[in-house]
Amino acid sequence: MPLLLSRDDVTQILQMPDCMDVVEKAFAELANGTAVLPLRIPITPPDGLALYMPAYLKEMGALACKVVSVYKDNPTKHKLPTTIGTVLLQNAETGQVICIMDGGYLTAVRTGAVSGVATKYMAREDDGQVAGIFGAGVQAKMQLWAVAVARKLSKAMVYDISSEAADRFVAEMSAKLGMEVVKVGSAEELLVADIICTATSSPTPLFDGKKVREGTHINGIGSHTPNARELDTTIVKRSRFVADSTEACLKEAGDLMIPIEEGALDESHIYADLGEIVLGTKPGRTGDDEITLFKSNGLAIQDTATAKLVYDRACESGIGTDVDL
Ligand SMILES: NC(=O)c1ccc[n+]([C@@H]2O[C@H](COP(=O)([O-])OP(=O)(O)OC[C@H]3O[C@@H](n4cnc5c(N)ncnc54)[C@H](O)[C@@H]3O)[C@@H](O)[C@H]2O)c1
Repeated sequence: MPLLLSRDDVTQILQMPDCMDVVEKAFAELANGTAVLPLRIPITPPDGLALYMPAYLKEMGALACKVVSVYKDNPTKHKLPTTIGTVLLQNAETGQVICIMDGGYLTAVRTGAVSGVATKYMAREDDGQVAGIFGAGVQAKMQLWAVAVARKLSKAMVYDISSEAADRFVAEMSAKLGMEVVKVGSAEELLVADIICTATSSPTPLFDGKKVREGTHINGIGSHTPNARELDTTIVKRSRFVADSTEACLKEAGDLMIPIEEGALDESHIYADLGEIVLGTKPGRTGDDEITLFKSNGLAIQDTATAKLVYDRACESGIGTDVDL
């Protein structure tokens, strides 16, 4: 009998440190060759986009598929959100679907978690660093949570073109993390940060890459289509570039594909995939003055590992509703 988990159930169960642990293990499996990760499958009905994201993690015994849809007219036409995600988790030994869970909050936490893992391995190690978050939406909040797990921060700053969204971010995140969080009035002011996360809906670069300080670590998570980018060519060129997956970056990441099209760099600019850094095959950072950049497109291994974690915890705590199909 499958277990049904609502968004509230998932929110109650899922914590960032646990999610970072399983996401790190998933990237190790990807690098070790024990993960199966087809590229996501897109289907475009007339009114929107549906994406199918399956993955299998052998060591973890996790098998799942996330269905995500992006229908721009949903809020006005149907009073539904633009983006809806649902995860089907299967028993890896029998193939039986054992859990159906809401994928909205799970997606935000697993997207934060991969940046947390990248920050753990790639940012400078000193305590008291400042985080700078571009964007104040759902993803941005989880980025700050994850970075605050990876490093002892002294302060966080946020910049959003919507001043109201930034105000909400400050109120919510300072209360959640018990730390100083301030809003800044321009993109440039954020560039004094030691750890920068870009988590906006912008299709064009957010800042001038010449102005980023040496030693900065950047997690770029917002744009993930070939024609959109949050990062300019200069900052990509100046950085040691780590991909969540080289294959995904070369098919989906405008941040990298546009500089390649311009002839500013080529595929050899990708220094490593995150899994290689996690396994220690290559160091995440080789000096305190280096600029490091992690590019996340979002992989189904993150959803699968996180869904298994949520399901196991739900079973332990008796959360959710059994449904007879
Ligand atoms: N890499 C991944 O795995 C992954 C996963 C989920 C979502 N995303 C992407 O992350 C992005 C953010 O998603 P979200 O759900 O938080 O969206 P959201 O709409 O909740 O928030 C986006 C925020 O970006 C702000 N913004 C837009 N342009 C800006 C600019 N130039 N400077 C500063 N702020 C700006 C908006 O005002 C808004 O507050 C989207 O592009 C989404 O597709 C990536």
